This record gives sequence, structure tokens and C-alpha cells, in this order.
Amino acid sequence: MSHLFPTYSRWEIEPDFAEGSIIIDKDGKRYLDFTSGIGVCNLGHRPEAVHHAIIKQLNRFWHVSNLFIQEEQEVAAKLLADAAEMELVFFANSGAEANEAAIKLARKATGRTKIITFHNSFHGRTFAAMSATGQDKIKTGYGPMLETFIYVPYNNIDALKQEVNSETAAIMIEIVQGEGGIHIGEREFLSEVEQLCKDYGALFIIDEIQTGIGRTGKPFAFQHFQLAPDIVTSAKGLGNGLPIGAVIGRKELESVFGPGSHGSTFGGNPLSISASIATMESIFCGEFLKQVEHKSQYLFDKLSNGLHLIPEILEIRKLGMMIGIETSIDLPTLLKKLREMGLLALPAGNNVVRLLPPLTVVTEEIDEAVNIIQEAVIHFSKTAV
Ligand SMILES: Cc1ncc(COP(=O)(O)O)c(C=O)c1O
Repeated sequence: MSHLFPTYSRWEIEPDFAEGSIIIDKDGKRYLDFTSGIGVCNLGHRPEAVHHAIIKQLNRFWHVSNLFIQEEQEVAAKLLADAAEMELVFFANSGAEANEAAIKLARKATGRTKIITFHNSFHGRTFAAMSATGQDKIKTGYGPMLETFIYVPYNNIDALKQEVNSETAAIMIEIVQGEGGIHIGEREFLSEVEQLCKDYGALFIIDEIQTGIGRTGKPFAFQHFQLAPDIVTSAKGLGNGLPIGAVIGRKELESVFGPGSHGSTFGGNPLSISASIATMESIFCGEFLKQVEHKSQYLFDKLSNGLHLIPEILEIRKLGMMIGIETSIDLPTLLKKLREMGLLALPAGNNVVRLLPPLTVVTEEIDEAVNIIQEAVIHFSKTAV
């Protein structure tokens, strides 16, 4: 028997080795990894710069605690804050922890408790992050949620206007709902959300845990829409595989998180910090991000051309390297077929194939992935030949 709680329905694959966009399993089968460890390995598997940084830190010290000054935390915090055009950072270990801290920060800063989030959102599995999540299936069986979260339809400003008022501590939103089905925020809607926050003195929190660290072709996805959030949360791609999360905030919030107000034993762990510095230095430069834009457009055009005649393909959506293919084909069956054919992809929502390739993916790998998707979809299509 397995001694693991069966919280995950696992695939039939056991990795043995991974490099770049490729995973090799224990039977020697090669997979093109268009999941990036669920949006984590943005520089692919074991990129040299990150590998080197971790080894260097491994040979210095692994853990000392946040009672010590750690220059590298300052370096990582500056890289992250500058990239977000903000000032302050708190390091945690995961996305849910980052959101947990953001929720605490917003409640303490405003003295209010009501937080508005969106239907189909996903913010994590701790109690506050789960309470913030706008999906019942995540909460089933866990009893009453943390009070005062309100959920409204995404991209629906009228619904939001009915709920926001002078008791609202924050509006918390994903720029692209990743787990929820690759739904992209509309420009006007997002600007109005920001304005409503200003009007009512609420904080504007953007969850960039899946969309950040170059995933959409900008350091953070909100930068496609010229937004100015008060708090941004980050995790996943920040350590390219080493666990790290972060809350990024404006300097006006400094006194709210004073000594003793929040903390984490492992938050800002030296190994994760070393990985995050190397990751950010690689990704947050203009040339790298321009390449991401080009590659994502190439992937999107190829997919659109290859799939546009197939009636089972309902829509293809993308922001940078977050791509969703909405389909009427049974999702688990299609994803299994893709794996058999050597392509790893993710589900999102009920009927969306989610592609999160490494940002370092090369043209030949994109071509190979699109060919596999096209062949698999045609296999299940009732009309395509
Ligand atoms: C938008 C978003 N927020 C929060 C989380 C939770 O992150 P973690 O699993 O690191 O706790 C996720 C994870 O998928 C996410 O996509």
C-alpha cells in the first residue's frame, strides 16, 4: 500500500531525469513537459544559472533563521520589488502562505475584514486562501470558511459594484484565472476594479502566483494592463523549483507588518533565496521577456492554424505562455492520450487544456507539441479527418 494520503490522482509516470523542457521517466520514455511543474520551472528543468547558485549557497550555509541579517534576502527583495514597481517584500514558502499573509496585511492595514474575490478563482489551500477561493469543490467537507469573503462573477463590474463598500478591506484578483480555466481579465474591468478600490479605500491585491515571474511575457501580468496594485503575491516560478513565496507591498504598508506581527521559520530560506535571485536575474531582462512574447505568439498561431477546423475546439485563449484550449472532448481522456503521445499538459476548469511550457522552450519543441495536440484532437474528433 502507499503510505501517502491519496490527495492527488497521480499520473502513470515516474520521472527519472529532467532537463530543459524534457522529462525522462524510469522506463526511459521521453516527455515534452508543457506543465513546468504546474507553472514553476519557468526556466525549464535544472537551468544552469539556478543550479550554480544553489550549489554555491549549499556550500555556505543552509538555514540560520530570520534572526540574522541575510544580504541575499535584501538582494532578492529588491529584484522582486523593483520588478513589481513596489517597495517591500515578505518571504514565505508557498503561494497559499503568500496569500495568507496578504489577507492578514490587508485586514490589519484597513481595520476591515470584508474581502471580495471572484467565482472560479483559486488562491490556495490554507484556511484563509481556501476561503478566498471562489470554487465550492475546494471547500467541501471543511465546515465553515473564514467569514467575510464575498464572491462575484469575474469580468462583471456591475456585480462587483453591488458588493464593494466602505467596509471592504480588499479586492483580490488573478489577472488570468489559471486553475479556473485560463480566463483573462478584461482591460476595462481590471481598471475599474482598481478605481473601485481607490474610491472605497480598499486595498487592491493581485494574486500573481501563477501569472508572475515572466509567465505572461512581463515580470507580472498586471503590467500588461498598466495597473497599480497595493499588494501582489508571488510563488511558483519565483524559485524555479525551490519552494518560495512572497508578498510584495507598497511602502505605506511598512508599519502594519512591524516586528512580531507576522513570520515564518523557513520564509526566505537561503537556498530558495539563492534560486530566486538567479531566476529573477535570468527572467527580468528585456531580451528574455521579448523572446517569451515571440514564442507565445508563435505557439498560439500554430495552435490556431492547426485546430481551427475542428469543431471540438471551442476557443483558444492566451496571455503570454499561459494558454488554454477549451474543448468538448472529455478532458481526462484527452490529457491521457497526450501523455501517451509524449506531451505533458494540465487541466484547467472542467474543459480546458492548459499549456504552461517553460519560457525557455524552443521552436522545434513547440512544433512537436502542436503536432501531438493536433493528432490527438483529430483522433477524438467526430468530424475532422
Ligand atoms: C493563482 C494561485 N494562487 C495560489 C496558489 C496556491 O499556491 P501553492 O500551491 O504554492 O500554495 C496557486 C496554485 O496553483 C495559484 O495558481
